[in-house]
Amino acid sequence: MVEIAPSILSADFSNLTEQITVVERAGCDLLHIDVMDGQFVENITFGPLIVDAANRISDLPLDVHLMIVEPERQIEKFIQTGADIISIHVEAVQEPVSVLRDIRRLGALAGVALNPDTEVEGVLTLLGEIDLILVMSVYPGMGGQRFIDSVGQKIETLRKAIDDSNLDVKVEVDGGINPSTVQLVARAGVDIIVAGDAVFRSPDPASAIAELRKLTIL
Ligand code: DX5
Ligand code: ZN
Repeated sequence: MVEIAPSILSADFSNLTEQITVVERAGCDLLHIDVMDGQFVENITFGPLIVDAANRISDLPLDVHLMIVEPERQIEKFIQTGADIISIHVEAVQEPVSVLRDIRRLGALAGVALNPDTEVEGVLTLLGEIDLILVMSVYPGMGGQRFIDSVGQKIETLRKAIDDSNLDVKVEVDGGINPSTVQLVARAGVDIIVAGDAVFRSPDPASAIAELRKLTIL
């Protein structure tokens, strides 16, 4: 079954407790938390304080997506405040292996995120070091963008590489997922979908989750 990770980037922060409670009650599987630093991407969002708040509001696993430079300087704080999964961008680090090993050593699951222009081939050697690979289907930096179709092929390539080598690595897709795009990624073999606007900008987030869930059942 495909897991659903609503991105709180699209939530109403004046009412974060209610927003998180609604998606948790609707049966989502994870909470996706988009951290941006104004350097790796132009926008600035939030940091460990919000991870700590989400951790106190919810029992869901916290899936923290770091769109920041020098993530190695911050991972400990994110894990201390409750991050269960930390994904770092492969484009943001010189030595991904040492950062990924640190994430695991500190007790979280380690993920690698790939920008739409980053080839899959360059990260295949990292598969043994990670629990998750986060495939960006929009350019990172903001919610509500249009899904890039060519990402389907990338997911298929990764799925095959992971299955062929019998590894336990989940494939997550992030950006522009909605009822019109979710089936393409489900067919390509994704394990986790992130959805921001499609859930939190819907008049009924619980039904939006139910609809996405239904569409992933092939
Ligand atoms: C983009 C973020 C995504 C995004 C998803 O930089 O990583 O998580 O907010 O939002 P939607 O689903 O609205 O594209
Ligand atoms: Zn994200």
